[in-house]
Amino acid sequence: MGAVAPSSRTLAAEMVRGLNLTGPTTVVELGPGTGVVTSAISEQLGPDAHALAIDIEPKFVAAIARRFPRIEAVCASAADLPALLHARHMFPADHIISGLPFASLPVEVTTAILDAIAASLRPGGTFTTFQYVNGYPTPLAKSFRRALSERMGSGPERRVVWRNFPPAFVLTWRHQ
Ligand SMILES: C[S@@+](CC[C@H](N)C(=O)[O-])C[C@H]1O[C@@H](n2cnc3c(N)ncnc32)[C@H](O)[C@@H]1O
Repeated sequence: MGAVAPSSRTLAAEMVRGLNLTGPTTVVELGPGTGVVTSAISEQLGPDAHALAIDIEPKFVAAIARRFPRIEAVCASAADLPALLHARHMFPADHIISGLPFASLPVEVTTAILDAIAASLRPGGTFTTFQYVNGYPTPLAKSFRRALSERMGSGPERRVVWRNFPPAFVLTWRHQ
């Protein structure tokens, strides 16, 4: 959950696979960093879709804004997501995709972000993130999944991506 290396293009493609971003949909990326997943989102975006990318690092936000004009890049904490969506008349979101390094964030920050995600998704909306296969059975990774499943009302769908360093599980929750 804390990133070891930037996500591979294969992992990025798996993060957006199955999401229909062609219609009038609202998609949010949390922690775009250098933009590997942002690029996969951008390739799928239809003309009526709205996309927001939120990162806490100004230099990443500036680079995302330059590379992806169709995506609004915002310098803020993911914990502020409901307010950021309301301010843009984008609330609620259809899909939230996260590359945030939850394993290395303070627990109170993770809790605030998970609350923000659950508060921002429409019923039936999805939240997608990944966990490395080697860290998947650890108590921290399990308690993260449990905390999300409680908020979303059901457990995640899981797909494995071997072509990533390290290999990772992509996890998608659907908000009940
Ligand atoms: C490891 S990078 C992920 C990059 C890319 N999504 C990937 O998968 O390769 C994590 C990103 O999360 C951002 N970040 C960390 N804490 C954040 C927070 N509270 N709100 C928004 N972004 C945050 C960091 O600045 C960094 O760009």
